[in-house]
Amino acid sequence: MKRAPKSKRGYVIAIDGPAGVGKSTIGTLVAKELGYRFINTGEMYRALTWKALEDGVDTRDGGALTRLAERLSWDFKANEDGVIIRTVIDGRPVTTQIREERVGMNSSLVAGVPGVRRKLRSLQRKLGQQGSIVMEGRDITTVVFPDADFKVYLDASIEERARRRTKQLRAGGKKADLGKIRESIIQRDMQDLQRRINPLRQAEDAVVIDSTRLTMLDVAGRILGLIRERERADK
Ligand code: DC
Repeated sequence: MKRAPKSKRGYVIAIDGPAGVGKSTIGTLVAKELGYRFINTGEMYRALTWKALEDGVDTRDGGALTRLAERLSWDFKANEDGVIIRTVIDGRPVTTQIREERVGMNSSLVAGVPGVRRKLRSLQRKLGQQGSIVMEGRDITTVVFPDADFKVYLDASIEERARRRTKQLRAGGKKADLGKIRESIIQRDMQDLQRRINPLRQAEDAVVIDSTRLTMLDVAGRILGLIRERERADK
C-alpha cells in the first residue's frame, strides 16, 4: 500500500466491499475511535434515487438523472457526536426515506449512470480533501481515492451476510425470510460486480479482510491496529 505523506492532516481511510458485509458498522467504529468523520457513499446514490422517484424522473433516463444530480444542492451534515456525515439534498435530510425498498431497487440503475458517478465522485473527493475521514462504498479504493492512506476490501460469504441481515431486521421487529434475503444479496452482488462503469473490485494494494468468522469489533480492531502501526512509523 502506498505510504502516506507525513502531514498534519489525518488519514483518508477507504473501505469497499459487497452489500451487507458490515462496511458501515465497521467504518463507524473506526471513525469513532480515531475522532474522524464517517461517510457511507451509498447514501448519496440512494438520496438521488429517492429524489428522482419523488420528482417523477425516469430512473432509466441517464441524461435526466445527471441533470438532477447537477441541479440539486448537496450538503453533508454531521450527527450529534460529529462522526457520521449525513446527506442533505435541497435542505432536506433524507436518512429515513432512502431506506425504502423502491429506493434500493432503483439505486443500481442510478449508480450505473456515468454523469451521476462523475458528480458524486467530485462531492466525495471534496469531503475527503481535509483528511481525517473514513469513506465506504464500492469504488472508493479504486476510483474516488486510489491514493488513500489506507485501503480496505471487506468480504464475507453470502450465507453469513444473509444471516446477519436477517438477524438485524428481526432485531428491529421486522419480518425477514433468510432465503429471500440471500437471493437479493446474490442479485445485488451481480449488479455491483457487472456494472460497466466503476464496478466493485479489489484494489491491488487493498488489505483484504474476510469477516465471515469475525465480529465487527474484531475487524475494526484489525484496521485500527494497522493505522496505529502507521502512526508510530510516521512520527
Ligand atoms: O450500499 P448501498 O446499498 O446503500 O448502495 C446504494 C447503491 O449505490 C447500490 O446500488 C450500490 C451503489 N453504490 C455505488 O455504486 N458506489 C458507491 N461508492 C456506493 C454505492
